[in-house]
Amino acid sequence: MTTLATVILAAGQGTRMKSRLAKVLHPVAGKPMVDHAVEAAWQLAGQPPVLVVGRQSEAVRAHVGDRAVCVEQAEQLGTAHAVQVTTPILRGKADLVLVCYGDMPLLRPETFRRLLEAHTASPARPAVTLLTYVAADPRGFGRIIRRPDGSVAAIVEEAVATPAELQVRELNVGVYVFDAAWLWDALPRITPTPPKHEYYLTDTVALANADGRTVLAVEGDDPDELIGINTRVHLAEAEAAFRRRINRQHMLNGVTIADPATTYIGPDVTIGPDTVILPNTHLVGRTTIGEACEIGPNSVLVNAAIGDRCRVFASVIQDSTLEEEVEVGPFGRVRGGAYLCRGVHMGNFGEVKKSRLGPGVKMGHFSYLGDAEVGANVNIGAGTITCNYDGVSKHRTVIGEGAFIGSDTMLIAPVTVGAGAQTGAGAVVRHPVPDGKVAVGVPARVIGDSRIAQRRAEKERARSRPEEG
Ligand code: UD1
Ligand code: CA
Repeated sequence: MTTLATVILAAGQGTRMKSRLAKVLHPVAGKPMVDHAVEAAWQLAGQPPVLVVGRQSEAVRAHVGDRAVCVEQAEQLGTAHAVQVTTPILRGKADLVLVCYGDMPLLRPETFRRLLEAHTASPARPAVTLLTYVAADPRGFGRIIRRPDGSVAAIVEEAVATPAELQVRELNVGVYVFDAAWLWDALPRITPTPPKHEYYLTDTVALANADGRTVLAVEGDDPDELIGINTRVHLAEAEAAFRRRINRQHMLNGVTIADPATTYIGPDVTIGPDTVILPNTHLVGRTTIGEACEIGPNSVLVNAAIGDRCRVFASVIQDSTLEEEVEVGPFGRVRGGAYLCRGVHMGNFGEVKKSRLGPGVKMGHFSYLGDAEVGANVNIGAGTITCNYDGVSKHRTVIGEGAFIGSDTMLIAPVTVGAGAQTGAGAVVRHPVPDGKVAVGVPARVIGDSRIAQRRAEKERARSRPEEG
């Protein structure tokens, strides 16, 4: 079995980003640029890639952790030199070496795979197989120079190309699969190219030819893969390209996206079929959305788990779960590990933090629930607040099943309201309200049995009673 090592070059300074942050740590499509390359390399080889980093790259090392093996290229003497610094750890460890650049986040693992398959399938045992693309405007890229018989003779860097060579529209994308044994032998033979005296990895092509070895070229099929990032203008282009690619995939999977140009979906988001995403919506992090939901317009979901048939309208959901048929918004905020059970209705201007709302809870208007456990079918009156913070610590509020919290109730935590209990409008509840009792006033006092639970039950019975003829 042939073994594969992957190398990602990321030692360049990235000066044109004009940033304190290392270029490869700038996020694209929701994660640092380097993660895209590292993850694609992992997918291909099933083991950590070797990441070539520069001298001032503690932040990059810290970020990737053990997801990549970092090797330092103290001085940036060129791409060939960058690969050469991996020799001590990779020589003799793999039959093939795939090299790519860390600032091209749109390269897909399937493109790497195509290149690898072409390389291994060729009976000519190529020294190198490289990815090319024929572009209307090849500016900024090395040009592929072919012989009359179509074979690849060399790559010429733009900086040293002749006017005739600059006319060539086939360009070097910057992904290579090398025969490892040949590569380690060839790298020390590369000589620096003026004016900057850089060691060009692209010189391996002419060298392979000189050694009588085959050079194979595979043409790419996605122009977005060419996007390399040197400036923040490129960063925005890459972002837009990711957005197009991700949105398109969801649409092909059965998701309606009303306006892809204003829909921002992260790479790790999953969405069920027949869900509709309305404009100006951001789905970020590890968000999952079930089937037949309607999300947006104007919604932001970060690490949200949304069940089937939910509706989130102009609201923010962070690190929280909605079971099926939950409605939130407009202008709702659900955060901090909140859990809304099936059929919860949360209307305008509500906030729920780190609380569990049982099935069928209704919270229509202007309320805050924090650190609360709310039983099934509780009604939270307009303006209800859990006063969960005493200035020092957070405290819990527990509300029993079927309770009715009157408008503008202040629940001074820690406090409990029993099942089927009731609070009056404007009550300030400091002491437990027992099951089935009603408490009113400031501070709230229990004045008798709750009639609410009983009346709601009667109304429910009347509604479900068959027509009498
Ligand atoms: C390179 C290719 C060019 C190709 C283009 C595609 C070479 C000589 N040329 O040119 O044919 O069309 O990419 O984008 O390879 N790096 C290091 N150490 C170094 C120098 C570079 O790690 O000493 C890294 C950079 O961080 C970057 C990558 O290698 O991620 C590419 O280097 P860059 O200088 O941007 O190469 P290009 O001039 O774009
Ligand atoms: Ca570049």
